[in-house]
Amino acid sequence: LRPDSNADDAPAAGDTVVDVPAGTGDATYEVVIRNGAFAQLGELARRLSRAHRFAVIADDRVAALHGSGALAALRNVGDCDLFVFPAGEANKTRETWAVLTDALLQAGCGRDVCIVALGGGVTGDLAGFVAATYLRGVPLLQVPTTLLAMIDASVGGKTAVDVRAGKNLVGAFHAPRGVIIDPDLLATLPDVELRNGLAEAVKHGAIADAGYFAWIEAAGASLLERDPQDLQQLIRRSVEIKAAVVARDPLETGERATLNFGHTAAHAIERCTGYEVAHGQAVAMGMAIEAGLGERTGVTAAGTSARLRSVLSELGLPGRLPAGLDPRAVLAATATDKKVRNARVRWSLISRIGVAARSSQGEWTLSAPDEIVLESLAS
Ligand SMILES: NC(=O)c1ccc[n+]([C@@H]2O[C@H](COP(=O)([O-])OP(=O)(O)OC[C@H]3O[C@@H](n4cnc5c(N)ncnc54)[C@H](O)[C@@H]3O)[C@@H](O)[C@H]2O)c1
Ligand SMILES: [Zn+2]
Repeated sequence: LRPDSNADDAPAAGDTVVDVPAGTGDATYEVVIRNGAFAQLGELARRLSRAHRFAVIADDRVAALHGSGALAALRNVGDCDLFVFPAGEANKTRETWAVLTDALLQAGCGRDVCIVALGGGVTGDLAGFVAATYLRGVPLLQVPTTLLAMIDASVGGKTAVDVRAGKNLVGAFHAPRGVIIDPDLLATLPDVELRNGLAEAVKHGAIADAGYFAWIEAAGASLLERDPQDLQQLIRRSVEIKAAVVARDPLETGERATLNFGHTAAHAIERCTGYEVAHGQAVAMGMAIEAGLGERTGVTAAGTSARLRSVLSELGLPGRLPAGLDPRAVLAATATDKKVRNARVRWSLISRIGVAARSSQGEWTLSAPDEIVLESLAS
């Protein structure tokens, strides 16, 4: 037992607990992975946040499915209100941030409130940015409900909203007090959203662990059938990989950029299509395209893009741009990505499956000529 826990809410046998550094100091937060954790949300939230007042932020779909469960659990340990916004990436905006922060003020939430982000990555990023800015920053708990948010978005403390100029361009680092993952919540998740999450798991294998990548290749069918043990193993391994990268570079001054593999293209695709293409789908396309870019520039081992396309197709994910999307428009949209430096777009590439690429100067991002980017987007 940890010294400050009591027997009721201490990590239980069978839990996976991953400790993640909260920033540059010594503080860490727990990622608790436990089937059935949602029913114990009150006790877990209380222990991790130390708060007595909670404001749950959820999109309308998640609120309808799991809002009353969250309220009931949290009201066991304190006051709790639910704040709802319309689902979808198109609502991850400053406008929704303004509506939510006004509603919190209206409800009289003070500095003692703990924001609970209940939902997918859109909710995590948006509610996280609310927590980072409300009254100059209040505690945050992440309670992810999509596979993508469980394995990627909820861990690492990045929060943001999208603006007209591009995705995630206004935000803050704001580490949560804890992340509570209940894989049972995936029972209500549509198949297409499950696949979107698997795209980020493929990314974790591709940048950091060839053995994990091969395991995903082998387990593809059972993951799609939602085998509980395989899903739990996937969540655990992906959280470990993400946490390890974040631990070495919490504020993304270097190695953390490797988590952006596939994302320079993905963000451009999302923006070009008005966010009609979901993040996970865009990441799938982006990884295959960026592996092709790496192969064409001599950074990535030959055959990597083909291997990615094969596992992605096995998982029901796309490996190419949607028909009708002009590669030149995507190229143009890459120019506003955050990794643009000295007017050059920076790409986070891999050298082979399981190994992120570094430039000869040791940099984690690389630039590439437009003609080769265009060729990779079109292939
Ligand atoms: N901060 C980070 O480090 C980070 C990392 C990766 C991705 N992201 C961000 O995450 C976002 C994508 O997240 P996402 O794919 O989870 O999208 P999302 O939050 O829009 O969720 C997808 C859909 O699933 C629904 N949903 C969520 N949980 C459900 C459940 N249990 N049952 C039924 N329906 C459910 C939602 O209402 C939504 O319609 C993007 O904005 C991306 O930029 C952030
Ligand atoms: Zn992502």
